[in-house]
Amino acid sequence: MKIILLAAPGAGKGTQAEKLSEHFSIPTISTGAILRKNIKDGTELGKIAAEYIHDGRLIPDDVMIGVVKDRLSQSDCENGFILDGFPRTIAQADALETAGIELDHVLSIEVPDETIITRLSGRLECSGCSTTYHKEYRPPKTEGVCDKCGAALTQRKDDKPETVKSRLETYHAETEPLLDYYSKKGKLRIAVGQEEISDTTKMVLKALEA
Ligand code: AP5
Repeated sequence: MKIILLAAPGAGKGTQAEKLSEHFSIPTISTGAILRKNIKDGTELGKIAAEYIHDGRLIPDDVMIGVVKDRLSQSDCENGFILDGFPRTIAQADALETAGIELDHVLSIEVPDETIITRLSGRLECSGCSTTYHKEYRPPKTEGVCDKCGAALTQRKDDKPETVKSRLETYHAETEPLLDYYSKKGKLRIAVGQEEISDTTKMVLKALEA
């Protein structure tokens, strides 16, 4: 099963990728998580990425295409994968096609911008294992502490209101055209995001079965 999750920032791609990864027993490749790890480790890629992420802009296509090709060539992707956050431009989608990667589904999770702004202002991320929480919708058992690994929960720097605004603008201008791109190829599946995470998972699984 090779799935792309295509949705606005904060629509719940990472949250649903976690559920799908368990359901289908395939890995999630999150380009955002790869970039944040590189920033944390101070790598050359991290130095390039930090500037773009801080401004809510996309990292240049040639850099991202190289990162994803490298990751997909690893053995754990042989039986399928979930791509969370790639492709984000037509050039990135073309690169997947040129590489001969046959996708099963491209899933769009539809959530209005106003809901996204509320969600991102309450999102918390584990500084250890990167598991995502929400102050209201998915609170940890102990405030400020990750249920899974016990590390501290922090707010992502790009979840500041002005950066979220810029990320949404970037999504509408550069990534949204991919909905039409994949619709024309007959790959697009749509799930309408729900208020409850578990209800969204039901919609996502239903959309993938359709
Ligand atoms: P990335 O990390 O991919 O960020 P994003 O796409 O902006 O998405 P998010 O991780 O913010 O949100 P999400 O959709 O995963 O939502 P989540 O599940 O956390 O990328 C970061 C940056 O890296 C980009 O801005 C760009 O600069 C760069 N980058 C990455 N990939 C790139 C590429 N291919 N090319 C170029 N640049 C690239 O959910 C959000 C919150 O809502 C959580 O708190 C969650 O608990 C809560 N929530 C989720 N679902 C629900 C629900 N149904 N009800 C209530 N709450 C919910």
